[in-house]
Amino acid sequence: MKNIIFTIISFIIIGFLFACDFESNTNQRTEAFEEERQSREPKRLKEGEIMTAALEWGEEIADSAQVQLIKTLQKAIQENGVDGAVDFCHEEALPITNRVSENFGVEIRRVSHKNRNPSNVAREGKEQEVLDAYLYMTENNEDPQSNVQKMDDQYVLFTRPIKLAAPLCLQCHGSEKDIQEATLLAITEKYPDDKAVGFELGEFRGMWSIKMDKKEVIKSRL
Ligand code: HEC
Repeated sequence: MKNIIFTIISFIIIGFLFACDFESNTNQRTEAFEEERQSREPKRLKEGEIMTAALEWGEEIADSAQVQLIKTLQKAIQENGVDGAVDFCHEEALPITNRVSENFGVEIRRVSHKNRNPSNVAREGKEQEVLDAYLYMTENNEDPQSNVQKMDDQYVLFTRPIKLAAPLCLQCHGSEKDIQEATLLAITEKYPDDKAVGFELGEFRGMWSIKMDKKEVIKSRL
C-alpha cells in the first residue's frame, strides 16, 4: 500500500519535473562553467528532458509492438480460426515482442495481474509498483495513463495501460459465454495456470512495460 501511494505521488512529481526542468539550478551556474560542462558532455540531457523523451519514445515503441501483434493475431484467426490462433499466440507472441525489443534496443514486456503466460508476471520493484498503482487507480474509477519511472542511474521504465478494448479480445479473454469450447480447450492445454479469462469489454487487462537504457533514449531523439 505504501508503495502504491509512493508511486502515485511520484507520477505527480514527474509532472512537476517536466514543468520546471531544474531551470533555477541552471541559472545559478556561471556561463564559463556551463560552456566547459557542455564541451565535456555534449549529449548530456537534463533528467526531466530524458523522462519526456522516454515517454515519447515509449509510445512509439508500444504502438509498433501492438501493431505487429494485432496484425499477426488477425491473420492467425483468419487462417486457423480462434482456437487455432491460440496455438499461434503461444508460439509467436513473445518472439514478436522480443524482435521489436531488439530493433529498438530496449526490453519490451506485457505484464498482467491476471496473466496467461507465466512469463508475463510483473517483476518485483518498479514494474510491480506501477502495475499496482494502475490497478488502484482503476478500482477508484480513474483512468490510468502512460508513465515513466526512474529505475536506477542507468535505466528508466516506460509503462502504458492495456485495456480489453475490442470485442475480438473477449473470444479468448472473456467469460464462459464469450469463449467457444474449442478455444477454451486450446487455452487450458497450453496454459494450465491461465488467469486471463473473465474480463469484460473495456476492462484494464495489464500494461506494456518497456525498460530503456537512458543512453538509448538520448540516441533515439538525435
Ligand atoms: C486467439 C485468442 C486471443 C485473442 C483473440 C486475444 N488474445 Fe490476448 N492472449 C492470448 C494468448 C494465447 C496469450 C498468451 C501469449 C503468450 O504465450 O505469450 C495472450 C496474452 C495476452 C496478454 C499478455 C499478458 C498475459 O496474460 O500473458 C495481453 C495483455 C493480452 N493477451 C491482451 C489481449 C487484448 C487486448 C486482445 C484484443 C485486442 C487480445 N489479447 C486478444 C490469446 C488471445
